[in-house]
Amino acid sequence: MGVGFAMLALFLGIIGFAAVADGISPPSHIQTVDPTKVAQTPPFDHPGLVKRGPGEYDAYYVAHVFAFDPATLRVPAGSRVTFYVTSPDVVHGMMIVGTDINLMVIPGWVNSGSHIFRTAGTYLVACNEYCGAGHQMMAAKIEVQ
Ligand code: CUA
Repeated sequence: MGVGFAMLALFLGIIGFAAVADGISPPSHIQTVDPTKVAQTPPFDHPGLVKRGPGEYDAYYVAHVFAFDPATLRVPAGSRVTFYVTSPDVVHGMMIVGTDINLMVIPGWVNSGSHIFRTAGTYLVACNEYCGAGHQMMAAKIEVQ
């Protein structure tokens, strides 16, 4: 018992010390959205691609039961695309096969990630969080030309 408590105290002490000494903090710059008003909230009222500069795009996605909006996105090869995604209903996933984009999509929160599409082709966007009876049909595509 004594050893158990000593270990617990030691580990909590180390975690507490590390948090203070290394300035560890929860993720910041968090973006939120009212999940009941996603369809009225810019930019998610018009999901899709927005050009930000030469070869730089933002892509806004709404993941809902059981589809992604937009269903098809066309992107020029070589572009860096920053994805922003939210959900108006339940937890979804947004995985773009063949890239490092793998985002959890939680109602009320905006998740994001960037990828440079160097290779032309059609990329599958799949939901990888079980979200209900139509989960297996929830997919979209990105055409890189
Ligand atoms: Cu959405 Cu599974």
